[in-house]
Amino acid sequence: MSIHYAFPEGFWWGSAVSATQIEGAASEGGKGKNIWDYWYEQEPYRFFENIGPEVTSDFYHRYKEDIQLMKEIGLNSFRFSISWSRLIPEGRGDVNPEGVRFYDAVIDELLKNDIEPFVTLFHFDMPLVKQNEGGWENRAVVEAFADYAKTCFQLFGDRVKKWFTFNEPIVPVEGGYLYDFHYPNVVDGRRAIQVAYHTMVAHAKAVEAFRKAEIKDGKIGIVLNLTPSYPRSGHPADQKAAKIADLFFNRSFLDPAVLGEYPAELIEILKAYDHLPQTEEGDAELIRNHTVDLLGVNYYQPRRVKAKDHLPNTEGPFMPEWFFDAYEMPGRKMNPYRGWEIYEKGLYDIMINLRDHYGNIESFVSENGMGVQNEERFMQNGIIQDDYRIEFFKGHLKWLHQAIQEGCRVKGYHVWTFMDNWSWMNAYKNRYGLVSVDLKTQKRTIKKSGEWMKLVTRNNGF
Ligand code: BG6
Repeated sequence: MSIHYAFPEGFWWGSAVSATQIEGAASEGGKGKNIWDYWYEQEPYRFFENIGPEVTSDFYHRYKEDIQLMKEIGLNSFRFSISWSRLIPEGRGDVNPEGVRFYDAVIDELLKNDIEPFVTLFHFDMPLVKQNEGGWENRAVVEAFADYAKTCFQLFGDRVKKWFTFNEPIVPVEGGYLYDFHYPNVVDGRRAIQVAYHTMVAHAKAVEAFRKAEIKDGKIGIVLNLTPSYPRSGHPADQKAAKIADLFFNRSFLDPAVLGEYPAELIEILKAYDHLPQTEEGDAELIRNHTVDLLGVNYYQPRRVKAKDHLPNTEGPFMPEWFFDAYEMPGRKMNPYRGWEIYEKGLYDIMINLRDHYGNIESFVSENGMGVQNEERFMQNGIIQDDYRIEFFKGHLKWLHQAIQEGCRVKGYHVWTFMDNWSWMNAYKNRYGLVSVDLKTQKRTIKKSGEWMKLVTRNNGF
């Protein structure tokens, strides 16, 4: 097989997951409840086919088998998240020894199989006790998170060298405080902005704790869903709309995390609309002095925007959409199941932007993948023939390769995801795995895309 796209030596081939989406054992092993356990108890009908987070893909019991499959596919790294409420059921205070045992065992099993653990501290799963105290609206929860981070560095920092504070920190802001798809289902621009700001402070405090922990050869990063904003046209009004969307959805976290400060234009808008968050003395310095070493980039879809057709309803809650409308580009390629546009070049554009405006920070693709509904219809002889997923990966990897050729410091590519998992409100609607999971039996079977990935990892390219 000839290799057209060869990747740099030591490239990180892997996959990402999150605790709530794969572990199951939601009320086992001394775990405390998180917001997902609670929301599902309250409103099970809001989850696809009424499936909640109790069992998911049962990684808690099957991690050894799963890690063997990762090894078989040739993956050399794996990003998973620690469940804060499994490790510290009350969110602050006593550490749960069963939780420590579980994460120790997963880390050791990965290392034994030459798979490097990449660990995320927060992937959408606020402990319920902390949410009841106000979640990210409350500074005390920020402090509790910094403590939790410190505990993780102490417990696992001898073996885990790549740490990520947050996965897509803007998503709990959007879901929980603007658009009603995460608990606590608040719709309030002012509170959303406070939550976003406190999340950033929590991030910086965790970075501070990491620096103090002096983990040998350790790196700390954040994982952001960088969705480029493309304007409908060159008209100045469309251009302005795209710029503002970029400020709200990308630069709100990217700039403080990588450059150490918020974009002045974002501050100006919030000031003009009287929506600046409450800050404390020392915050700006904390953020400035605790930027990241490494950036995880999650990429699924672009954002296309245009100038607004109508004036916003300013009696309604303050929304980013006061400044732009979504634009459906004629002829766009869609993943109809997830309702997301597929635009492979977006990944290249993100990386070039990081190269040119963010000091060419070391990065990697920390999630990229395609969720498809009713995948069993593509089953032949027991194996899902997911050629569309292979095409999806290839299309993105070609552009990623191009970015690397042009000097971007991209170190790896992690797919979303290793095996089919529970996708929040969508539960098991769309399947993303390289490996399929039969929900009745929990049987794992490598899909065609997993077989393809074996070749990619073996050849370090395709
Ligand atoms: C990312 C998240 O937003 O996209 C994952 O980090 C998520 O947790 C993934 O599962 C795919 O999105 P969804 O909503 O289809 O599960």
